[in-house]
Amino acid sequence: MTAPTPLTHQPVLAAEVLEALAPASGKVFVDGTLGGAGHTRLLLEAGATVYGIDQDPYALERVRAEGLGGLSVLQGNYRDMTELLAAVGVTQVDGILLDIGVSSFQLDDTERGFSYHSEAPLDMRMAQSGESAADVVNSYDAEDLAAIIYEYGEDRLSRRIARAIVQAREKAPIETTVQLAEIVKRAYPGFSKGIHPARRTFQALRIHVNDELGALRDGLSAAETLLKPAGRLAVISFHSLEDRIVKRFLLGSQVLQPLTKRPLVASETEQAENPRARSAKLRAAQKITDPTGPVSTSGAEAR
Ligand SMILES: C[S@@+](CC[C@H](N)C(=O)[O-])C[C@H]1O[C@@H](n2cnc3c(N)ncnc32)[C@H](O)[C@@H]1O
Repeated sequence: MTAPTPLTHQPVLAAEVLEALAPASGKVFVDGTLGGAGHTRLLLEAGATVYGIDQDPYALERVRAEGLGGLSVLQGNYRDMTELLAAVGVTQVDGILLDIGVSSFQLDDTERGFSYHSEAPLDMRMAQSGESAADVVNSYDAEDLAAIIYEYGEDRLSRRIARAIVQAREKAPIETTVQLAEIVKRAYPGFSKGIHPARRTFQALRIHVNDELGALRDGLSAAETLLKPAGRLAVISFHSLEDRIVKRFLLGSQVLQPLTKRPLVASETEQAENPRARSAKLRAAQKITDPTGPVSTSGAEAR
């Protein structure tokens, strides 16, 4: 790995997350996407106990080194949070946070293969296991590649890009980030400046390799049962596909009631200070206390 990244991490929508989760002394929370522990630190400062899950061993290594009091670190996928928590004797919690996607540490670590700017092995696996992005581009047929690039990258040139990938790998396997970025760029006629055409393809491969949408669906179902009555859920997403999954899940849930009618977005000030916050959307919900009665909306204002 590259040199250790500084521990400074700006948690997105921090005030809104705190309002939604209402942390307090004696309460137990799950941070399913611990990352740099930015949000977790705020929950701990409010006196709560936190079980922090991350599938990335490097993220956990960094947080463990800090020795934060009140935090238990669990390595795994948040989609398995029920089992991960049961293994440490926890069956119900007061609140759950999911701040999904990739962290700035992962993007900045050039050797992880998430970035099309820096030469690195084409990996993109947060958990360091399973199929890598190189495995996908070198083995999937053009139709499947196009479907991934279209669905998760929303790239209208998905078929052309997929064909270019298949043609290129017939000559030599595609092994690095820059190799793939160049292939995608060549499939975009006339590109000279602006957002690199490989951005959408890289996003699509990352979502596919880490099964990010499947994990989100499973994680939401797990959260539904793991929360105590009146427990709170907060989900920050960065992609319209993810936000749609959260929105639909909450609409269909018999036990979770939205605390936010529309997703909350970052203030102009936060967006100016932290470009990553620009696409962030927060949805929050509360588990009902009584299946026949109305949900309480104290703490987080119902919007
Ligand atoms: C956006 S960052 C979280 C940042 C964190 N909230 C903070 O303030 O520092 C997302 C983190 O979640 C992890 N992650 C993403 N999907 C995951 C999953 N399905 N299970 C466990 N961890 C996941 C990533 O490895 C990454 O470290």
